[in-house]
Amino acid sequence: MRTHVVDHPLVAHKLTHLRDENTDSPTFRRLADELVTLLAYEATRDVRVTAHEIRTPVSPTTGVSLATPKPLVVPILRAGLGMLDGMMRLLPTAEVGFLGMIRNEETLEASTYAERLPDDLSGRQCYVLDPMLATGGTLAAAIKFLTDRGADHITAICLLAAPEGCARLEQDLEGLDVPVTVVTAAMDERLNDKGYIVPGLGDAGDRLYG
Ligand code: PRP
Repeated sequence: MRTHVVDHPLVAHKLTHLRDENTDSPTFRRLADELVTLLAYEATRDVRVTAHEIRTPVSPTTGVSLATPKPLVVPILRAGLGMLDGMMRLLPTAEVGFLGMIRNEETLEASTYAERLPDDLSGRQCYVLDPMLATGGTLAAAIKFLTDRGADHITAICLLAAPEGCARLEQDLEGLDVPVTVVTAAMDERLNDKGYIVPGLGDAGDRLYG
């Protein structure tokens, strides 16, 4: 697994305002949307393209277009939905699949309550959207869903990640023959005893949707 923390002043600026407890829901939604687009630019650095010929008004030249099958974008409900528009702005022709997952706040175990993904993901690049990588249980389960169906390249975009979650993910993915990259705006300090990221930004789902 590769972890890429995006080091950019605009990312840091937007993340700071996102973290601030005085930021209201409409502003939080807008900042999350803008931040995802910046992270998506980095996360799609290895999106597959195919070369083809075009003609400009001046001359023929070679360019590229997104390869087929098109990438699959998978927001993890509920909070991942707040990242979908920001991602689709960069990949408007991508297909979208949905996973509904909830973490039990006592046991911190993730469970799946909804799933709407293509049955066959053979040869597909998948982009998973989830604002928080806390214990890593949710993302580990989501990646298993996708690779069980044949996805052969996974990139997760998270607004924030905790070292404990990344370590667990690394362990859970051991032996998996699929490249997995986590792109995040920050690697925070730790998890607290409730499984919240510290300093974090609170509960992303609640701050997005109340
Ligand atoms: C939050 C968050 C992640 C998950 C991260 O979702 O959006 O999906 O927890 O936790 P983990 O890394 O410890 O598994 P939550 O379960 O609160 O659901 P919500 O998106 O519906 O608010």
